[in-house]
Amino acid sequence: MTAPVEGFSKFTKAEKITWLANNYTSNPEETKKLLKRYWNSDAQLQQLHDEFIENTITNYYLPLGVAPNFLINDQLHVIPMAIEESSVVAAVSKAAKFWLPRGGFKTKVISTEKIGQVHFMFRGDPKKLQGFFDKIQPILIKDAAPITKNMDKRGGGVTKITLRDCTNDLPNYYQLHCCFETLDAMGANFINSCLEQFATTLKRESQRYEPFTETEKAIEVVMSILSNYVPNCLVKAEVSCPVDQLTLSKKVTPQVFAEKMVRAIQIAKVAPYRAVTHNKGIMNGIDAVVIATGNDFRAVEAGVHAYAAKDGQYTSLTHAKVAAGTFSFWIEIPLALGTVGGLTKLHPLVKLALEILGKPSAKELMQIVAVAGLAQNFAAVSSLVTTGIQEGHMKMHLMNILNQLGANAEEKKKLVAHFKTNTVTHSAAAAAFEKLKNKE
Ligand code: MEV
Repeated sequence: MTAPVEGFSKFTKAEKITWLANNYTSNPEETKKLLKRYWNSDAQLQQLHDEFIENTITNYYLPLGVAPNFLINDQLHVIPMAIEESSVVAAVSKAAKFWLPRGGFKTKVISTEKIGQVHFMFRGDPKKLQGFFDKIQPILIKDAAPITKNMDKRGGGVTKITLRDCTNDLPNYYQLHCCFETLDAMGANFINSCLEQFATTLKRESQRYEPFTETEKAIEVVMSILSNYVPNCLVKAEVSCPVDQLTLSKKVTPQVFAEKMVRAIQIAKVAPYRAVTHNKGIMNGIDAVVIATGNDFRAVEAGVHAYAAKDGQYTSLTHAKVAAGTFSFWIEIPLALGTVGGLTKLHPLVKLALEILGKPSAKELMQIVAVAGLAQNFAAVSSLVTTGIQEGHMKMHLMNILNQLGANAEEKKKLVAHFKTNTVTHSAAAAAFEKLKNKE
């Protein structure tokens, strides 16, 4: 076993790579070459990437694709998507094209509230704590003013602080539940800085509060942190058209297609095993745009899935209905996104993605991202209820299989042509490749 390493973070990049390659790979020279192949030839750009995180040894690429023809509130958009999974970009592009002549996507931001909490323990009289809280509210706001000044000027800031008694869940446990408006910023640093200041004020003022006993004065702040659960930072995206315009599949009539779509959504609403996969498909679309625009996809994932379970059972994030001959399909999801701060000014491709999107505000980006999720779900579920997912998916995956098999450009061309009229499976591709090789 390799001995633990001392002072690794202080090693130079080359030293880190040498240590890693020597101790954890079978061919250190090959490892070094491989890692170097992924370095950017522009040293300055490489340094920028090296400094995004810690202990960087190389870059890890994700393909950046684009999905054109998205009509959103009567404006055309091209949506950049960073994702490794084949067929996602094709699927959303297909959905965009389908809805283009049918009015496109209609979207609306419902709310933009962000949340953070100071979690603390108070051992004493809850009524006295409430009295104390009422007294210090203006002091909490005043003490945080140096942090909130700029945000306040732009129309954002702290919108509400409430004291929450959580002692039914955990003895002596209370929260300062704080609401924020962070405008075009995702706001994590702003919120966390405000919360840490609130915690300092809370402790300091409790020690000075005469009605408190010595035990009551000893408020124990456990932690101060934003919540990624943002059920009041909501966006809605919708498509709708007369049922007879649902001419998507040669296999079923528009009427049957609409019924099958509605049924599939009903299933995702009541069956958690299906709901998870259904929502995973939605996140294929959402995460890809979130990543391309330099936002935090883990935060989005956590918040979205919590929202999907908000009523006690994990359920579908999309909804469908047929009413008065019209098919409607929509999504309502919480999305805490930013178009300023974070990576938005740092990462050249993030800057480009935002430019392609027309330099959106955070609210506009929420709408675009929701559309990508809805489009992906529409495409996935419409395949599932008609041809099945594999037909389209495997066609898109064919190139990965051919690359795995080691096909050259000419062979790929021939095999792609062959599979235009044949079903793609891994074994069928291997067999066709073998046959081609034998012929050559
Ligand atoms: C695959 O990445 C996503 C799907 O499974 C989504 C779905 O089943 O709705 C196709």
